[in-house]
Amino acid sequence: MTDTDQHPLRVAIVGSGPSGFYAAGHLLSQAGRPIEVDVFERLPTPWGLVRGGVAPDHPKIKSVTRMYEKTARKEGFRFFGNVEIGTDVSHDELASWYDAVIYASGTSGDKKSGIAGEDLAGSLSATEFVGWYNAHPDFKDLDPDLSVSRAVVIGNGNVAIDCARMLTLSREELAVTDIADHALDLLVDSSIEEILVLGRRGPEQAAFTNPELLELGELADADVIVDPADLLIPEDLQEDELDATARKNVEILREYAERLPSGKRKRVVLRFLASPVELIGDDRVEQVRVVRNELVRDEAGGLRARPTETEEIIDAGLVLRAIGYTGFAIPGVPFDERKGLIPNDGDGRVLGPDGEVVPGLYTAGWIKRGPSGVIGTNKKCAQDTVNAVLADFEGHESTPKVDTEDVAAVLRNRVPGLVDYAGWELIDAHEKGLGEPQGRPRVKLTLVDEMVRIAAEQEPAAH
Ligand SMILES: Cc1cc2nc3c(=O)[nH]c(=O)nc-3n(C[C@H](O)[C@H](O)[C@H](O)COP(=O)(O)OP(=O)(O)OC[C@H]3O[C@@H](n4cnc5c(N)ncnc54)[C@H](O)[C@@H]3O)c2cc1C
Ligand SMILES: NC(=O)c1ccc[n+]([C@@H]2O[C@H](COP(=O)([O-])OP(=O)(O)OC[C@H]3O[C@@H](n4cnc5c(N)ncnc54)[C@H](OP(=O)(O)O)[C@@H]3O)[C@@H](O)[C@H]2O)c1
Repeated sequence: MTDTDQHPLRVAIVGSGPSGFYAAGHLLSQAGRPIEVDVFERLPTPWGLVRGGVAPDHPKIKSVTRMYEKTARKEGFRFFGNVEIGTDVSHDELASWYDAVIYASGTSGDKKSGIAGEDLAGSLSATEFVGWYNAHPDFKDLDPDLSVSRAVVIGNGNVAIDCARMLTLSREELAVTDIADHALDLLVDSSIEEILVLGRRGPEQAAFTNPELLELGELADADVIVDPADLLIPEDLQEDELDATARKNVEILREYAERLPSGKRKRVVLRFLASPVELIGDDRVEQVRVVRNELVRDEAGGLRARPTETEEIIDAGLVLRAIGYTGFAIPGVPFDERKGLIPNDGDGRVLGPDGEVVPGLYTAGWIKRGPSGVIGTNKKCAQDTVNAVLADFEGHESTPKVDTEDVAAVLRNRVPGLVDYAGWELIDAHEKGLGEPQGRPRVKLTLVDEMVRIAAEQEPAAH
């Protein structure tokens, strides 16, 4: 038996979303050397955006958590929930406890549009709106005013589609999901009749994926409306510049443009080459000033939106900004403010301010690559990072300075509401139990204190 066999490599992972769990899974499936993984999560609940982002009416997508549950059952895995790195535990402490630390902390901040009136009441980021309907504890009190007749959704990505679709679903469709209880009544009783989705560039540049765009055309309670004039291909755009997804999107949009509205209760109107430039209202949003854009080539040959002189004012009482996300800096961890992510060498090794690799420090997922890509994209990304960890520690003795049990003891002392994996399983069972009589997958808890209380109804366990 070698020294390396005697001392497992000890890795901390910050964040329990897809990238954190894919990294944990890959680490714990290494036959070559024993490895221990501790996952730290600021919420008492795991799964990141799979719980707090994926739309409630997409339950199949959430079933990916069954894979993560298998990882959590592996020898060497521990979960420390309700522990925020940078607040409850500093990065320096973490780095001194483990051989390697992988930041898989996601990009939960919303990108700002920078337009006037952005902060008026009734103007919400997708982070807030999505977090609210998904029962994220940070957004449970959002209470958006949906007693308005038109909503404007800014952005042409899948999050914009999620937001638009959620505003159209009926009680029958939502009542069987894990939507937050507080959002169900408000959404289905809303007065919103029209949802206007604004893309700053053309249909060819939309970031929608095909199944999500197709789903908009199949809504039970909403017609989808596209103006054929918006679908004229710009003269200098070469067909071969479009990838398969963009081509299919244009085909789908053309079919929508040919449809006659069938008089459904609501309308989702997709507009292109249109940017809001100001949100207007005294105390809250009442109108949106929108400018018509044209596409121009930038220096790199890409197509960007340039405002024209043509403007219009549109009445709208709700504005949802679905224009992307950005990461937060964690004290002590290098951060690229401009890009909103942790600088790294592409394989996940974190780079310091001097551009040099910081030994023992890694990153994976959205905070490594930026906020794009579906759940599965994070698998390869996390595996690349773990492969970098394994390569760097090949033949190296594990040298953490604190015993694994001591880490758990420090955390139990410092974080009164610490939730371990067995505690999460109790929360999970409780939520499923609440959902069962209603024919719902679960009823999500929104109060951290309540989650902690339920998680504590167990004998403390190491796993
Ligand atoms: C609204 C929305 C809907 C989506 N829907 C789909 C979909 O239907 N299908 C699909 O394939 N993809 C979907 N995606 C994309 C998918 O969710 C992401 O690709 C994926 O979640 C990114 O994984 P991640 O682990 O990098 O980040 P996240 O999932 O964001 O996980 C990061 C985790 O880190 C935790 N954390 C952050 N900071 C700290 C800290 N300081 N200490 C401890 N923990 C911390 C967070 O609480 C979180 O749990 C959606 C994304 C969004 C935004
Ligand atoms: N069902 C699913 O599979 C699903 C659901 C949700 C999310 N996701 C994934 O999660 C990732 C993130 O999705 P996302 O929708 O947040 O991001 P996204 O795909 O990057 O789309 C962002 C959109 O916002 C636009 N935008 C950015 N800044 C803007 C501004 N200042 N003004 C107007 N528009 C602006 C972008 O336009 P430009 O192109 O012009 O920059 C783009 O259309 C994506 O990879 C997505 O596929 C998947």
